[in-house]
Amino acid sequence: MGKKVIGILGSPLTDGNTAQLFEQALKGAKDAGCEVEKIVIVNLDFQACQEMMFCKEHETCILDDDMQALYPKLRETDGIIIATPVMTMGIPGKLKSFIDRFQVFFMAKYVRKKSLVSDEKKKGRKGLFICISGMNIPEVFVGVKLTIKAFFDIIDCQYSDELLISDMDHILDIRSQPVLLETAYKKGFALGKSLGS
Ligand SMILES: Cc1cc2nc3c(=O)[nH]c(=O)nc-3n(C[C@H](O)[C@H](O)[C@H](O)COP(=O)(O)O)c2cc1C
Repeated sequence: MGKKVIGILGSPLTDGNTAQLFEQALKGAKDAGCEVEKIVIVNLDFQACQEMMFCKEHETCILDDDMQALYPKLRETDGIIIATPVMTMGIPGKLKSFIDRFQVFFMAKYVRKKSLVSDEKKKGRKGLFICISGMNIPEVFVGVKLTIKAFFDIIDCQYSDELLISDMDHILDIRSQPVLLETAYKKGFALGKSLGS
């Protein structure tokens, strides 16, 4: 069986510009021989972290919602592709809440010193980060990268590649830039290949 890649779409638009790049990257990973699964954040039903601290002593969260089915998937996957637009110089709120719920992994790794990800799995886990912004200013990706790098650390996944595209306020429709779509495909393909078989 091929390696598993989970794609996480952070944009609320499921056919917007981020989504176009996301689909290309997932297609690339699939063509590289990976089994691909999508998590579309806007379609999930979950609460933001309530700091109940159940995860300080347990391998899951006390909140019973869509996150429960996702924790095992994020433990088992080999690759992750996250695609999101910049919103207010960070990631969209619902994607941030999704990431905050991985406090379950944080507590296991940093407090109880026993990661939820097996040593075997940890070795090769890799993540690709795709992000687009409206503005074209040097610091536009600083905040989002800090958040995504922290998330990848928490879930024991190497931040292995990125595709950061600014100036969407002028590009408007990513389909007018086939080279960028092709780059997303190639990065997804490279991620998939790098995971081995
Ligand atoms: C609520 C909101 C906040 C945004 N904040 C920023 C921002 O701080 N910096 C920026 O460069 N672009 C910002 N943008 C622009 C988006 O990043 C840009 O339009 C992107 O192409 C949207 O991608 P999508 O088609 O996947 O929704 C914002 C867009 C929205 C809707």
